Amino acid sequence: MALLEVENLSLALALSGMLKPVVDNISFSVDAGDTLGIVGESGCGKSLTALAIMGLIADSPIRITGGAIRFEGRDLASISEAERRALMGDRMAMIFQEPMTSLNPVYRIGDQITESLGQHRKLSKKAARARAADLLRQVRIPDPEGRLDAYPHQLSGGMRQRVMIAMALACDPALLIADEPTTALDVTVQAQILDLLADLQEETGMAVMLISHDLGVIAENCKDVAVMYRGRIVEAASAADLFAAPRHPYTVGLLNSIPDPDADKDDLEAIPGRVPTIDEVIPGCAFHPRCAFAQDICRDVRPGDAIASKEHTALCHFPTGGAE
Ligand SMILES: Nc1ncnc2c1ncn2[C@@H]1O[C@H](COP(=O)(O)OP(=O)(O)O)[C@@H](O)[C@H]1O
Ligand SMILES: [Mg+2]
Repeated sequence: MALLEVENLSLALALSGMLKPVVDNISFSVDAGDTLGIVGESGCGKSLTALAIMGLIADSPIRITGGAIRFEGRDLASISEAERRALMGDRMAMIFQEPMTSLNPVYRIGDQITESLGQHRKLSKKAARARAADLLRQVRIPDPEGRLDAYPHQLSGGMRQRVMIAMALACDPALLIADEPTTALDVTVQAQILDLLADLQEETGMAVMLISHDLGVIAENCKDVAVMYRGRIVEAASAADLFAAPRHPYTVGLLNSIPDPDADKDDLEAIPGRVPTIDEVIPGCAFHPRCAFAQDICRDVRPGDAIASKEHTALCHFPTGGAE
């Protein structure tokens, strides 16, 4: 049984009295211990998907308009708010792009970690502090006991992200959702955090859903990859298949945009144009205005839905490398 199953999930935003579709009929699953990468440019619906999975939508404009999210076999729509709270941060945890917004600047690191521990585990103050130091050690923060008394601003961006990871690990989650965990960091620190995540995954056996706009980040760690464009999964495959033989022109564009440290900046082939906003209605394939291979059918007919993860699928009338 898959740890996380997202089936035909559709999301909309309730904005000024209207429901605007943002995520359209996406399906994917993550098995225990596995890593799924979700990649796509900014604005494609990755974060809204993550927030819906985490159930962090109660006070937001996000509405689930179709489909199901199952975690450990339980339909998350049918559990009570108390059950959901028990699940979140315990079986499922999330880290975000900007650790400074998630850490409270006026509290010491140690107090913030022990507070997150206190919500799920009944520990004495002393035991909680020892556990917090252990967690900082686990994320390779030097002098963990000393750092417990530091304030967030006294740590570098990379160290703050390590603290966030430590807090997420506090209750041994079965699934960690990492939404752009390294985007705010410089390249060297980014690589260190990705290596840390891979090591922790090996040590703890947790599954990871790694979200990034950068296919280079996904390449490092993920077993399977789902490529999102404008609310749909437009290509899904094992990472090996996707990188060896990408099928959707959008994926090819993302691959060409991965910075090569040895190449000139000018060699970077960015995808022309931009992701349409939720207010723009694009007939046919949503990618066609940016696609070098677009034909008449692409402007008129929307490519059908595909099921992610298990086979190599692409929502494209003219996938490259395929037999179609
Ligand atoms: N609160 C909001 N109000 C209006 N638009 C929003 C809101 N949240 C997200 N959106 C829009 O929904 C789309 C998907 O957003 P998001 O999931 O954050 O994308 P991603 O994480 O892939 O960058 C984007 O077009 C974004 O502008
Ligand atoms: Mg996002």
